[in-house]
Amino acid sequence: MIEKMSDFFTVRVNGYDSHMLNEVAGCKEGYQKMADLLPGTVVNLLDLGCGTGLELDEIFKIHPAMQVTGIDLTAAMLDVLKQKHPGKDMTLIQANYFDYDFGTGKFDAVLSFQTMHHFPHAKKIELYSRIYSALKPGGKYIECDYMVIEQKEEDFYFNENERIRNEQNIPAGEFYHYDTPCTIDNQLKMLRMAEFEKVEMVWRMENTTIVVAEKGGK
Ligand SMILES: C[S@@+](CC[C@H](N)C(=O)[O-])C[C@H]1O[C@@H](n2cnc3c(N)ncnc32)[C@H](O)[C@@H]1O
Repeated sequence: MIEKMSDFFTVRVNGYDSHMLNEVAGCKEGYQKMADLLPGTVVNLLDLGCGTGLELDEIFKIHPAMQVTGIDLTAAMLDVLKQKHPGKDMTLIQANYFDYDFGTGKFDAVLSFQTMHHFPHAKKIELYSRIYSALKPGGKYIECDYMVIEQKEEDFYFNENERIRNEQNIPAGEFYHYDTPCTIDNQLKMLRMAEFEKVEMVWRMENTTIVVAEKGGK
């Protein structure tokens, strides 16, 4: 049985940090790499699907004054993040990032960590376009996520997801937790379709992969 997205994370919130740091290959290193990749000039950062903020734990070590807006569906995950960093400049919003208005030209950087591998291409391209608009000229979107190499692997997970959703009679458009990783090639294509001028894969450990997309104009 697959579970509603926010229920899935709510029931697992207690062991979540330890699971990601110790059991998901490449995540611990990916959190550190994400912090290293953020330019020192970044003041305003938007973190989509910030959860308990494992990436922010590393980012605050290097950039303690970063002004962070974090968006997440799951209140229980945001509660943990709030408790971890009471003194930091964080605006935490419980919302669906597909609906929430990020504004225009507001952020120096946008990031997402291990949250985009649950959605189909069309939704991601639309979201990437809105991220592009939310960035200032010269801004960067950095995504660390579960990505695969072969199209047949991607097809397998998407087909399985559809089969299970049909079996459970899950209405289209409702968020249920099931991993549908995309290929690195498709990720880069989707970001280019969202008008990002420079797009590249910069790091990978096992299936945990970081892509950086840059908005031109600076
Ligand atoms: C695997 S966790 C990643 C959390 C954190 N970024 C990390 O790497 O530890 C995925 C997070 O994405 C959030 N999420 C999934 N779909 C979302 C959506 N449509 N809008 C906002 N948050 C979402 C979940 O609630 C969950 O906290």
